[in-house]
Amino acid sequence: MIDWDELIESAESAARNAYAVYSDFKVGAAILTVEGKIFTGCNIENSSYGLTVCAERVAVFKAVSEGFRDFKALTVYSEAIPPARPCGACLQALSEFGSDIEILCGNSKGEKDRFNLRKLLPEGFTFKK
Ligand code: THU
Repeated sequence: MIDWDELIESAESAARNAYAVYSDFKVGAAILTVEGKIFTGCNIENSSYGLTVCAERVAVFKAVSEGFRDFKALTVYSEAIPPARPCGACLQALSEFGSDIEILCGNSKGEKDRFNLRKLLPEGFTFKK
């Protein structure tokens, strides 16, 4: 059983750390591992705009860099209406670690939309020689 309330609250509190001085669009993400650990991330912008990193990838990369690669669920929090979905680059980064991840997108109005990764990225790139 996934505790969605805990996971979206983790994403919401991560969004408070967002460094979004250019867009003023704060995003938080929280990823749940099969072991039950939660890693969070926020978007981190840069004056060289293309170097900006999304909240979702920060969360995934934090988990992987700590040795966790099997994920159950990801939440994304922002103030967007309807709730913002992960961008294509983040979906591709997530898909590296499996297509069965459940994704819940929420916002400050309490709206929530749930998908699985396969629905949002049905035919992503896979590396085959
Ligand atoms: N952003 C995310 O953090 N996640 C997404 O899935 C889409 C966009 C961030 C990047 C940038 O800092 C801001 O939102 C506006 O694009």
